[in-house]
Amino acid sequence: MQAEPPGEGWPREDHGGRLILPGFIDTHVHSGQLDVIGAYGSALLDWLEHHTFPAELRMAEAGHAQRTSALFLDALLATGTTTAAVFPTVHPVSVNALFEQAETRGMRLIAGKVLMDRHAPEALRDDVEGAERECRALIERWHGRGRLAYAVTPRFAPTSSDEQLAMAGRLLASAPGLYMQTHVAENPDEVRWVAELFPAARSYLDVYARHGLLGERAIFAHGIWLDDPDRAALHAAGAQIAHCPSSNLFLGSGLFDWAAAEAAGIAVSFGCDVGGGTSLSMLRTMADGYKVQAMAGRRLTAWKCLYAATLGAARALRLAHEIGSFALGTLADVAVWDWAVGPVATRRHEVARDVHDRLFAWMTLGDERNLVATYVAGQRRHARDIR
Ligand code: GUN
Ligand code: ZN
Repeated sequence: MQAEPPGEGWPREDHGGRLILPGFIDTHVHSGQLDVIGAYGSALLDWLEHHTFPAELRMAEAGHAQRTSALFLDALLATGTTTAAVFPTVHPVSVNALFEQAETRGMRLIAGKVLMDRHAPEALRDDVEGAERECRALIERWHGRGRLAYAVTPRFAPTSSDEQLAMAGRLLASAPGLYMQTHVAENPDEVRWVAELFPAARSYLDVYARHGLLGERAIFAHGIWLDDPDRAALHAAGAQIAHCPSSNLFLGSGLFDWAAAEAAGIAVSFGCDVGGGTSLSMLRTMADGYKVQAMAGRRLTAWKCLYAATLGAARALRLAHEIGSFALGTLADVAVWDWAVGPVATRRHEVARDVHDRLFAWMTLGDERNLVATYVAGQRRHARDIR
């Protein structure tokens, strides 16, 4: 973004009367899980075993990984998301495919090879030395290249040995600007399992902390079943929680305590968590976030939701100089929205009482039909039908 208007000769598009926002930032999503979106019938651990792991196995094949990554990123752009922190799979080809496709689109993307050396099917398991070698090569190739950054990505504590988590901690410390992403405290059975597997740890979060994985560029998905010392530790580290309401509702994982996170001073951003989540859309994710808080008798404003999905996430990622707002110096990652599509939303829009009422109804009723166009670093990468 720049202060001066561009000179004559620049193409101009008139979006008068529309809502123009920074592209959304999704801080937790899985590129290898499109095939299991909306899979019936189970809670987290069973869902992983019966739906997710079989789908992730297919990402070992380079052609499938390329096609899936392209489909995935185009689908994000088609819902107004221009930045994401993504879990591909354990296979380096899935990481290369995702970064290659993101680079082609000019997107800001954070991702890394999923680490899993136990409690997963053999073809999805790595080992400490092999994984370290693969990660170092991926970091060398991708971290800091254009708009791409590498995240050390242990899937979750149960699928990594202590040795592998220690290796992940060493990796994280090995280069500046590396991110760390994982899952924490999503489901009560999972939390009990972690307590059995890591009896010396004070809590699930503490398993990560003990291995040097709790830092300011850490993204912890879910964080539903945390306690106050965990929240204090997250705050002290400057780590963020990727709240994934659609997934939490769909898998029946629990209701995230946003107020407790906020009271502890933790940055909260949004993740769609597809395939546990049922839509890649940040609008659907925010609307589900509102409903989750409503179940606790609290109300999330549209302001708070939009902040979490844009500038709040950008700040938590230490990327506010580049994304999340239209401040001078940021890149033009922009989504242009129609306020309303169809007679019911149009009527609702017409009778909106003030800006918040209008925004909140848009967030609650809107979907990708409302999205007119998405621009990444000033280039149009998605268009509905420019009128
Ligand atoms: N915990 C470990 N792996 C996963 C995953 O793929 N999705 C979700 N929602 N939780 C997880
Ligand atoms: Zn997830």
